[in-house]
Amino acid sequence: MQAMESRGQKARPVWVSVVGARPQFVKVAPICRAVEEHNSRRGNGHIEHQILHTGQHYDREVAELLFEQLGLPQPRYNLGVGSGTHGTQLARMLARIEPIFKSQRPDWVIVYGDTNSTLAGALLAARLDLPLAHVEAGCRSGEMGQPEEQNRIVADHLSRLLLAPSQHAVDNLHREGLGTIADTFRRVVNVGDVLMDALVQNAELAESRAQSSLEEFGLEPRGYYLLTLHRAENTDNIERFSEILKAVGTLDLPVLFPVHPRTQHILVVEKIALAENIRPVAAVGYFDMLVLQKNARKVLTDSGGIQKEAFYLGVPCVTLREKTEWPETVELGANCIAGATMESIREAVALPQRADCGGTNPYGTGRAAAEIVRELLSRHGGKCASKSTTPEREAQAAASSRTQSQAAGLGPA
Ligand code: UD1
Repeated sequence: MQAMESRGQKARPVWVSVVGARPQFVKVAPICRAVEEHNSRRGNGHIEHQILHTGQHYDREVAELLFEQLGLPQPRYNLGVGSGTHGTQLARMLARIEPIFKSQRPDWVIVYGDTNSTLAGALLAARLDLPLAHVEAGCRSGEMGQPEEQNRIVADHLSRLLLAPSQHAVDNLHREGLGTIADTFRRVVNVGDVLMDALVQNAELAESRAQSSLEEFGLEPRGYYLLTLHRAENTDNIERFSEILKAVGTLDLPVLFPVHPRTQHILVVEKIALAENIRPVAAVGYFDMLVLQKNARKVLTDSGGIQKEAFYLGVPCVTLREKTEWPETVELGANCIAGATMESIREAVALPQRADCGGTNPYGTGRAAAEIVRELLSRHGGKCASKSTTPEREAQAAASSRTQSQAAGLGPA
């Protein structure tokens, strides 16, 4: 762990973003950019935004490479917690974050999504009475057995500012009593999805690499499926994991399979052989992932973020889970929840699915990060009103139903 600074009187607001896993590096990038934009405007007070990387992910392909590609500043703290059981990993995070929060007393602790790093940041912020903001608040899959569902529920309940990516997420929070008129502790606001911001900001760069990326993997546009698998519910249940791979092995096209380190370990330990059409490759960077999604015939995944990215890119998605925290993608016909059997997966892949969602996007317009910075500034120190909807919000919600594919210039290829 890096040496800590002891802070005396704070000259300017300090915000600490706690990240640790691959999707969080993508989510924090637009926030970094929005803070920089704020700081660069004349007359604005300077926000000191620090990144605290727990070190939950540490392999180059899932950590360093993303920092480089997304132009993220070096983390102020890198705690190097590494792998372990949930208990060990969480304990290390708590022990290493606590002294930092105690000495810094951030004006905002910002946590992202649903990982163990999110849980650790949220628990400590609450325990030390620091204002906590949760980006991607209100998502629910309804699967209480999943670590992600447990983590996000705890983070939401401990947060003072709940930054929801959609109206559906706001409704979920209200159902739990969060951000309702009676809740004077929290504010809930629909800001849209920061992953959309990241995609809009990086689309051009990714596009410029499209041809070379596809050539590198020997793929033709629409001539392959893209597969990702890493959720514990799939990888840690060998029967289920094998059934998914068996089903994917019978598909009619090559399947490119960027393998997450967790999944790689299990493939090796369990000595699982892959069918000939499945092409495993090491986990790829963010730009390659966008290109590979955009040009796939369909995306097959158990990732939360990839379900949305495929949707933004206008590519049909088959989700290898029983439920999703992104029901809007299913309602719009872009995402099919296939579960994990041979029949259900083959059926879902064969199903004609909509790629163009008719100009509807429930997740905002790619300006979520600027909205988040505004919210954090206006609620400095976590002073939150209970109202979750204002006329401006309603106008924004209406605007956010415009297509993001249009906003991003990223319709199907
Ligand atoms: C974590 C998140 C998940 C998120 C995913 C994105 C939790 C509970 N899960 O899952 O919500 O979608 O990140 O990738 O926080 N490993 C490596 N190298 C690494 C990282 C992990 O080898 O750089 C291996 C280790 O064997 C480790 C295992 O992956 O034990 C699991 O890693 P962990 O961080 O617990 O969860 P993920 O499966 O990556």
